[in-house]
Parts: sequence; structure tokens; C-alpha cells
Amino acid sequence: MKLSTVRMESENVKIIKTKNNEELSNKAAELFVQALQRKKQPVIGLATGSTPERMYELLIEQYRAGKISFEQAISFNLDEYVGLSVEHPTSYHYYMEEKLFHAIDIKKENTHIPNGLAEDLEKECEAYEQKISRAGHLDFLVLGIGVNGHIGFNEPGTSFDSRTHVVTLTESTREVNSRFFEKLADVPKEAITMGLSTIMEAKEIMLLVQGDKKADILNKVIHGEVTEDIPASILQRHPNTTVITDIEI
Ligand code: PGA
Repeated sequence: MKLSTVRMESENVKIIKTKNNEELSNKAAELFVQALQRKKQPVIGLATGSTPERMYELLIEQYRAGKISFEQAISFNLDEYVGLSVEHPTSYHYYMEEKLFHAIDIKKENTHIPNGLAEDLEKECEAYEQKISRAGHLDFLVLGIGVNGHIGFNEPGTSFDSRTHVVTLTESTREVNSRFFEKLADVPKEAITMGLSTIMEAKEIMLLVQGDKKADILNKVIHGEVTEDIPASILQRHPNTTVITDIEI
């Protein structure tokens, strides 16, 4: 596999350029496995969406081949919709079970996803933050990005100081995500997400960006101004972020 690694002069962000989604996913799985094996009890942040799907398949393959184990790992997902049950096929609980958890040896009690059905959502957010903090913060965090620059469900305008919180999804995010639902009206209007401060406390971040439709936003995130209008731009200030992408930038 031929990969080029470029360290930007003006920013912290390291870029790994890949030819296609397969190469991107292989590289992502490689960094994931390194993080998984670096520590006795690694705390890993997980993303949902289309982008990491192939990486999860590759991790399952490696687990089945006896090369890796998740037995000691603790996981925290970035976000969850408000109002969907864990059995709902478009909930992120369901996604994680289906795409990864059912096929590996991670302990159920060590997996964490915000509860979008909690009676008191504010309390749920606080409790989630505390659990992350008690686990010693994230050692490694997988991120995707929305075309509007969101990471997790931190939509444009979210404070850089935010911690786990309830968000109102933008109409553009609801439209983009409606492809997973029967109709737009079924897409929840709210979600719980780790905040940008929570994300920035991860010791290592891996941002996966796939497909030309994200070229504009990726350019802004890497080369543009650090601004709350583009939540992912905060990653320029993170000391250990790697972007893996198949986009020419
Ligand atoms: P995607 O979602 O991987 O399905 O493009 C990324 C995101 O919206 O964060």
C-alpha cells in the first residue's frame, strides 16, 4: 500500500492521503489496532455513519483471525438520536451492535452510548461526561465529519467549550441523514453529542473523510480559519490528530 504522509507547516494536523475507501479503511483499522494494543485498558471513542463501516468490518476480520481482542477495551460513542429506542434500526445503539459489537469480544458493560430515551436528558449528558472522565478520558477517538463541518453532532455555531449536550439538528444534517430513514419526517430533531471540549480531550484523534462531496469542507477544516462556524476546524488546535482521506487536498 503506497501512502503519502504530509505534515502541514502551519497546523498540527497530520494528513494521510489514500487512493480510495478501501485503502482509507485499511489505514484507519491499522491506527485503531495500534491504539487498541498500546494500553492495557484502552478507552476508545467511536463514530457511526457510512465512513467507518468498512473499518469496522476489517476490525472484525482481525478479531476473528485471533489477531486482536477488545476484552479490555472501554468504548464511548460520540452521539445518539433523541427519541429512538435501542432496537430502532436507525439508532446508533443498533448501528454499533450490528456493525461491530455483536461480532467482537467487547464487554457489554464497557460499551457506552448516550441514552436518547433518558427522561432527564440534561442529567444523562452530565452522567455521560462523568463516565468519560472516570474512565480517564479517551485515548483514541474515531471521527467522521458532516458536509457542514460537524463532528459528532456538534453543528456549526456550537461553542468550542461545549461538553456532552443536547443539540437541535440542522435541517441540512436531517436531510443528509434521511437516507437511513424511510422519510425525512422520521429523522429525529434532536440528539445527544459529546461536546467539542470533550472531543479535544481525547489524546489521539483520527478523522476519516471520504468522498469528493466533502472536499470543500475538508479544505476549510485543514487550511481555513479556526472558527465555531466550522466545528471540525478546532482540530487544528489538537496536538495529535490524523486525517485519513481519499480526497485531493
Ligand atoms: P457519514 O457521516 O460518515 O455517513 O458521511 C459523517 C457525519 O455526519 O459525521
